Parts: sequence; structure tokens; C-alpha cells
Amino acid sequence: MKLTLALATIAAASAADKVKVTLYEESLCPACVGYFDAGTDLQPVNSGFWVMYENLKDIVDAEVVMWGNAVGDPSQGADAVTCQHGEVECRGNLLFGCAKNLYPDVDAQLSLIHCFDSALIVAFPAGLPSGAVNMTMMDDTVKACTTESDVNMDYDKLDECASGDDGLAYLSAEKDKTPGHSGVPFTVINDGDVVCPPPDDLTAAVCEAYTGLKKPEACTAAVRNQEESWTSKVSLY
Ligand SMILES: *[C@@H]1O[C@H](CO)[C@@H](O)[C@H](O)[C@H]1NC(C)=O
Repeated sequence: MKLTLALATIAAASAADKVKVTLYEESLCPACVGYFDAGTDLQPVNSGFWVMYENLKDIVDAEVVMWGNAVGDPSQGADAVTCQHGEVECRGNLLFGCAKNLYPDVDAQLSLIHCFDSALIVAFPAGLPSGAVNMTMMDDTVKACTTESDVNMDYDKLDECASGDDGLAYLSAEKDKTPGHSGVPFTVINDGDVVCPPPDDLTAAVCEAYTGLKKPEACTAAVRNQEESWTSKVSLY
């Protein structure tokens, strides 16, 4: 009995050992889209947020905060907020903020973002031109992604939330969480220094920060590589 308990304790990272990994981004910034999916088949460079999460979900507390470079005060209404890539981006930030608050399952939240970003990369393989994503495409893409089995959210609920005061309240919270910064995307590990803007490898950086006993297998192969020209490869996205 005692032995079983001990093994169970070793198998899962204890809450204290978990690495807090927070990504700050916005829904339509090309580099944000590219960074989230970096390391996938669509973006074969050093691992970004999604691949890190897939590799290390047992040892991380992952969160994505979607406010980015927006300005304004959501508590004063939707018109009081200006997003870097226009009102379609604001709509995306609201939908993702609602998804995060209505559906606490982090797997589902991140799968929704992964599905959305992948769809943009597939739709615009040479990069995301300014204004390419209109309101219809935003809503249709998010809606289609909600039906993915690993997302499984009710789009009507997201829409209702994003169109009303709840969405604005959630967006305010995202704004409050966002630290001062010079650009997006950026990742913060354990509320410490900013790491992994490109070109760093996020899997390797999180492995390095993990102090638990049993490093996940993905850590063995992960190498921090800051020399590769990550930025130029992903800047299309
Ligand atoms: C929205 O964007 C899509 C994809 O670029 C395009 O096919 C569609 O015609 C646009 N719709 C409107 C209403 O502009």
C-alpha cells in the first residue's frame, strides 16, 4: 500500500513542482499565430507554446492571456477598446477570453487556440496579410474549432459571452494580467523573466525550470537554441 502511494507521488508532478508557463499574445498578430504553433508540422522550427504543452502537460500550469497590444478600458464598453489588428482581433480576444472563463479545462482552451491558429496558417501559408481575417472568417473559424473533439465547446455560449458584458469583464482581467512589454508574443516562466520570444525553444526552457524529480522524456531531446534564426522563419506568422 505504501509503495503504491509512493509511486503515484513520483509519477505525477506535485503541484509545488509544476512550472507556471504564461503566454501573452493577441488573436491576430502574425508572430503570435506562428509562435503558438511553432514546432508543429506547419511551423517546423523550435518549439513554441503548443508543442511545449503537448510535451510537458503533466508538469506545467499553462495559461494564455489574450490582450497583447490592445489599448483602452474594456469596462467602458467594446468601443473603448482598440486592438492592434482592429476590431476582428478584439472579437477573437473576446471569444478566447470567454472560452477560458466558461471552460476551465486548459486542454480544451489551448486546443481551441491551436485549431484556430492552424486554420490561419493553412489558409494563408505565405503569411497573414493585414486585414485578411474578416469578422465572418473569425466567427466561422472559431465556430468550426469548437466542434473539434478535443475542444467540445458550445459556440453559441461563446458568442453570447463575447457579445456582452461578461466578455468585456473577462477581457479586463486579461488586460490586468498583462505586464508591461515591448511586443507580443512573449512567454513568462514562473512569473519570472520573460523567456522565449523567438528564437528560444520553449520545451527546453520549461524543462530547465522544472525542479521535480522525474523529468518528462521530452526533456531529454530538447535543446535550447537561441542562434537559429527563429524570428525570420516565423515572422511571416
Ligand atoms: C471574408 O474573408 C474570406 C477569406 O478571406 C473571404 O472569402 C470572404 O469573401 C470575406 N467575406 C466578406 C464578407 O468580406
